[in-house]
Amino acid sequence: MSELRHPIGTFDVLAPDSRRWEALLAVFARVVEGAGYGLVITPTFEDLQVFQRVGASTDIVRKEMYDFEDKGGRRVALRPEVTASVVRAFIQHRPTTPWKAWYAGSNFRYESPQAGRYREFHQVGIEVFGAADADLDVEVMALGWEFYRALGLRRVELMVNSLGDATCRPPYRALLIEYLEARSGDLCDEHRDRFRENPLRVLDCKRPTCKAVAADAPKQVEHLCDACGAHFARATGGLDALGIPWTLATNLVRGLDYYTRTTFEYAGLALDSAQNAVGGGGRYDALVEEMGGPSTPGIGFALGVERILMACDAEGTLAAPDAAVDVFVVDFAGGDAARDLTAQLRAAGVRADRSFDGRSAKAQFKVADRSGARLALVVGPDDAAAGTVMIRPLTGDRTQWATPRDQVVAEVARLLGS
Ligand code: HAM
Repeated sequence: MSELRHPIGTFDVLAPDSRRWEALLAVFARVVEGAGYGLVITPTFEDLQVFQRVGASTDIVRKEMYDFEDKGGRRVALRPEVTASVVRAFIQHRPTTPWKAWYAGSNFRYESPQAGRYREFHQVGIEVFGAADADLDVEVMALGWEFYRALGLRRVELMVNSLGDATCRPPYRALLIEYLEARSGDLCDEHRDRFRENPLRVLDCKRPTCKAVAADAPKQVEHLCDACGAHFARATGGLDALGIPWTLATNLVRGLDYYTRTTFEYAGLALDSAQNAVGGGGRYDALVEEMGGPSTPGIGFALGVERILMACDAEGTLAAPDAAVDVFVVDFAGGDAARDLTAQLRAAGVRADRSFDGRSAKAQFKVADRSGARLALVVGPDDAAAGTVMIRPLTGDRTQWATPRDQVVAEVARLLGS
């Protein structure tokens, strides 16, 4: 039988690497919960319509979705992103607004796998519903920024754009189509045929031909209505006020279609530029209503865990935290002491481990050394008979001493505390 492996475009994370994931999630939770966000957990799959409604004309939804019919004949899809699910949950449960939610979890996109681009990848993110205030845009962008800083990343660039709203987007779109009509011969094959359907996608196309056309295209930020212009000025002014550096990225349109007004991306400058987006987001003031809910403004971001960890590697930050146990119980007197002592230590809050299968004292000491524990508690036949336990430091001077069995847990706690 051939060896079983994880599917293409996915990966396994084992300790100690997985400890970095735990650390990253803990930092994210601390940053966003400190700003009033509460964890939301939604299903990993949804009715296909949930995603079709958010991005019918995007590649993410049209070409890359893992959708299938379940055994009950329902059309479902593994989520390609979380925003649509959170909007669906908001509409279903109608929490009091402003509703501030955060999440962490897997997403699935059938993409060509490469470094930093996977078919199952992980995001942490936030979404806020029910506040149109540009100062909320500042809060959201600042929280992403703070999170990267808290991880120790220094080479992250915040790029900001505005995509206007229902007032100024349609005339801008018409202007862009007019410009692209005149340059259609210079577009890549895909966009030469499709640019009328979704002209903004051309601005996001990575092919050199489209890039050249996009460089001279009209910019939405230069064609904002008064309200969107004022919103953008307040949002970007807020970043300045907080001392958060940002750059204007006039062609930043993002890969999903629901955005209005402020849109942004964080680029990891230490990463290869092809996959250097370590996060992105923006406002989606029309989305809740488009998905069948009450008219409610929304904004959020999602940050890619794998890419953030790659950026941490490149910047030499976020080492795997030490998760060594404190104590290792070495028992070659039958196993009762290992069973009972380990349980008592754990109950007293001491991180403790042991060997199984009655291995030799030598083998057990080898595992004890590998465990990273500071102390070994050693019970041989003589100790068991005398009702004592040997305490042996596993670093420095390894001289051991005997302690009465009924005092050893308190003694260990005292030693570890000091
Ligand atoms: P997105 O730009 O599609 O936005 O994804 C956000 C981040 O997820 C990207 O910046 C990247 O770090 C990571 N990412 C995306 N695709 C992959 C992949 N195939 N492999 C590895 N990492 C990936 C969204 O998903 C929106 N829901 C963000 C949002 C939230 N907008 C408003 N609220």
